[in-house]
Amino acid sequence: FFTNPLLSGLHHSMAGTVLALWQKVLGDICPVLKDPEALTAVIDLFEQHVRQTYPQVELIVGLDARGFLFGPLLAQRLGVGFVLIRKKGKLPGPTQSVGYTLEYGMAEAEIQEDAIDAGQKVIIIDDLLATGGTLYAACELLKKQSAEVLGCMVLIELKDLNGAERVKPSPLFSLVQY
Ligand code: PRP
Ligand code: MG
Repeated sequence: FFTNPLLSGLHHSMAGTVLALWQKVLGDICPVLKDPEALTAVIDLFEQHVRQTYPQVELIVGLDARGFLFGPLLAQRLGVGFVLIRKKGKLPGPTQSVGYTLEYGMAEAEIQEDAIDAGQKVIIIDDLLATGGTLYAACELLKKQSAEVLGCMVLIELKDLNGAERVKPSPLFSLVQY
């Protein structure tokens, strides 16, 4: 592991929190969800980053399925709404969709046609960045909706797969990298 330089300015106790998180996640979010203090720490860190960097945020957009575990908690802390991007065929009403490549094969991500007003400032959240295919599709969908994507946030970033490159020009923020 190495720490996110954006987190280096954190209060000392928060730096300790990040260290504790490293030991907990190790590529698996389940232990974090099971431990209320760890889950609070995760949301604290996301919240602190958003308040410092994107105070103008208007909506949090979460990705099916594991982005739904963190997104609504963060949105509620920030006092903003939460919007779902789902896998194909799950959302009611008219939708827009974008195809994306997975390690093996293709998938489609969807958003409700009227989910976002043109120009709304959004942050996308998911649990993990691997190849970046999923977040890339989300960025494309939000572009179609004329949203302004302020940034993308994940709990875990697998650095070797260079997923951050696919998300550009949207900045990526990750709590834990390895
Ligand atoms: C996993 C993970 C991320 C995505 C990252 O989702 O939750 O969303 O893969 O991979 P990528 O960067 O290569 O696109 P997955 O669709 O496998 O499962 P989920 O429905 O449990 O979130
Ligand atoms: Mg996922």
